[in-house]
Amino acid sequence: MVSQIRFLMCAPDHYDVDYVINPWMEGNIHKSSRDRAVEQWNKLYNVIKNHAIVDLVAPEKGWPDMVFSANAGLVLGENVVLSRFLHKERQGEEPYFQQWFEQNGYNVYTLPKDLPFEGAGDALLDREGRWLWAGYGFRSELDSHPYLAKWLDIEVISLRLMDERFYHLDTCFCPLANGYLLYYPGAFDSYSNRVIEMRVAPEKRIAIAEADAVNFACNAVNVESIVIMNKASDNLKSRLAEVGFQVIETPLTEFLKAGGAAKCLTLRVTEPVREELHANVSVESRVIRMEGHLLDAGLINRALDLIVEMGGSFQVLKFNLGEQRQSTSAAEVRVSAPSHEVMEEIISQLIDLGAVDLPQDERDSKLEPVVQAGVAPDDFYVSTIYPTEIRVNGEWLKVQNQRMDGAIAISQTANGIVAKCKLLRDLEIGDRVVVDVLGIRTIRKAESREQRNSQEFSFMSSGVSSERRVELVVEQVAWELRKIKDSNGKVVVTAGPVVIHTGGGEHLSRLIREGYVQGLLGGNAIAVHDMEQNLLGTSLGVDMKRGVAVRGGHRHHLKIINTIRRFGSIAKAVEAGVVKSGVMYECVKNNIPFSLAGSIRDDGPLPDTQMNLILAQQEYSQIIQGADMILMLSSMLHSIGVGNMTPAGVKMVCVDINPAVVTKLSDRGSIESVGVVTDVGLFLSLLTQQLDKLTSPYVAKVG
Ligand code: ARG
Repeated sequence: MVSQIRFLMCAPDHYDVDYVINPWMEGNIHKSSRDRAVEQWNKLYNVIKNHAIVDLVAPEKGWPDMVFSANAGLVLGENVVLSRFLHKERQGEEPYFQQWFEQNGYNVYTLPKDLPFEGAGDALLDREGRWLWAGYGFRSELDSHPYLAKWLDIEVISLRLMDERFYHLDTCFCPLANGYLLYYPGAFDSYSNRVIEMRVAPEKRIAIAEADAVNFACNAVNVESIVIMNKASDNLKSRLAEVGFQVIETPLTEFLKAGGAAKCLTLRVTEPVREELHANVSVESRVIRMEGHLLDAGLINRALDLIVEMGGSFQVLKFNLGEQRQSTSAAEVRVSAPSHEVMEEIISQLIDLGAVDLPQDERDSKLEPVVQAGVAPDDFYVSTIYPTEIRVNGEWLKVQNQRMDGAIAISQTANGIVAKCKLLRDLEIGDRVVVDVLGIRTIRKAESREQRNSQEFSFMSSGVSSERRVELVVEQVAWELRKIKDSNGKVVVTAGPVVIHTGGGEHLSRLIREGYVQGLLGGNAIAVHDMEQNLLGTSLGVDMKRGVAVRGGHRHHLKIINTIRRFGSIAKAVEAGVVKSGVMYECVKNNIPFSLAGSIRDDGPLPDTQMNLILAQQEYSQIIQGADMILMLSSMLHSIGVGNMTPAGVKMVCVDINPAVVTKLSDRGSIESVGVVTDVGLFLSLLTQQLDKLTSPYVAKVG
């Protein structure tokens, strides 16, 4: 039976692998046999002719890929969107295909120049005609999708391709009759997989394995219950048979060498229109503006990479390159995303890089009320470490208490409207919270190249240094500590017990005594082991002088806890003359505020340890208020806690023997954080030595 379905094909008279524009062509230049290709193509032609009508477009010399007529354009009813090939190697095919469509009475739409779209290779109609699946990521641009929706008046669902072997949608995705879908999930990003799963019921999805996918099993021609393909595993054949499809295999190995098979060699030119359905695209686009040292600071690369990585696409509309070393550049970029959800994710990250709206597009932030105390509205904007402003009633308002992982809440006070970062648990009914990503900007200082390089911390340029000499870092940190001290600034230390175990206790004590430290944060353990060392000479039962375990030493720390408990607090034990030296002693003696945050594993705890973690977080955030620098010494737990509360601009130095901890902490994307992978005791010892050098009298070298 021949159904009324028509396909367009193009004979392989001039077919060859002449160049490489997809991974299948690599190593295959001139490796395909013309005779075998002709034979395979004829077989396919005959198979299809048994089930449908085949039209032919004349092959043209010099355009070897013209056999892949799927890439001629996309047909729906009378209308055709002509392809715009990404690669110049195929662009010459366009006029021949255009001519064929026009001669056959189609309405031909052509896309703007530089907007690639590769026809039915990247756009497949649901076989029930309900919508159009459109691929992007390699050959076709996401921005072409709204044109398809407009011209063909159909809903377009955008799917992002991730695996370059499956560079066209039809290499990994094949809608079948009765709502079935044959596809290879591995070719798509997870967002697209979710979209597919939302549209196609589980019993209709035929997900194939990689082994079938690389045989181009998805590159199939479906005519009613017949599915024509290069090759399928027995398993796939029986799965298809179970749901009523019969597979016809016809070898197309010569064409696989160019990255195509059955579907690529055909174009369905009778695609019925469902009149009741109309256009609908979820593709959104938005123009953002960036200004600053876009090239020097790598900002533009980061912005563009991030857009693509997150599933969007972009077009740079303007780029004014700053010509002088100190002049800034400005760019306008149109960002497109397959849905509002993805757009929000992309924009919120671009905001962190300093992206803003064009002045004429500026809008007020979207606010939604808190209706349950301690719970933000869905879709709330998650705050970051960067100084942020939000737009309320046409005015930009600076957000207070900047920190990451909060919500931005607006409240009306006697002094007008106030915007603040608040933790979820602190949200109150009546607060209005910023949702979505409108009317939000971060203020990035656009330092010039010179300024940036003269900054003390630029040597570290937010890198983790283990290779680089630790001494070099120590010199810089010492210099910074000295500078902060001289300017009455504030340095806060977070420290883990390892500081004591590695013999750093005496050095840290000295830093406190000499006025380099204005706040100490830690847990129960640092205080316990510090006092254990100073009272009993051991740290967790190990003799600190001889480095050997002391008999019964494992109970030492409990004895200490017990003693302090007897006095009621560390301060009282110091007052009573029981604790006579060490880190905690110096804190008490020098009126340095400290906070010890409790945890589930704490022994005791010490009376000073705050076991209410909400209160502990509050104490921590009070102590870091106004800090210029935070020295994080071997405590992953407390350091991460502190990192979360600290706004950008505060210098952070993280020292840990474990590179993973250092990387995690210095990975804030702000230039002020640096990691040092080294033994913390050694680091502190070098640091005090270096400070000695800086404070010793100047001796002029003579002779
Ligand atoms: N060599 C061709 C290219 O890379 C193969 C095209 C295959 N066509 C398709 N619809 N997947 O453009």
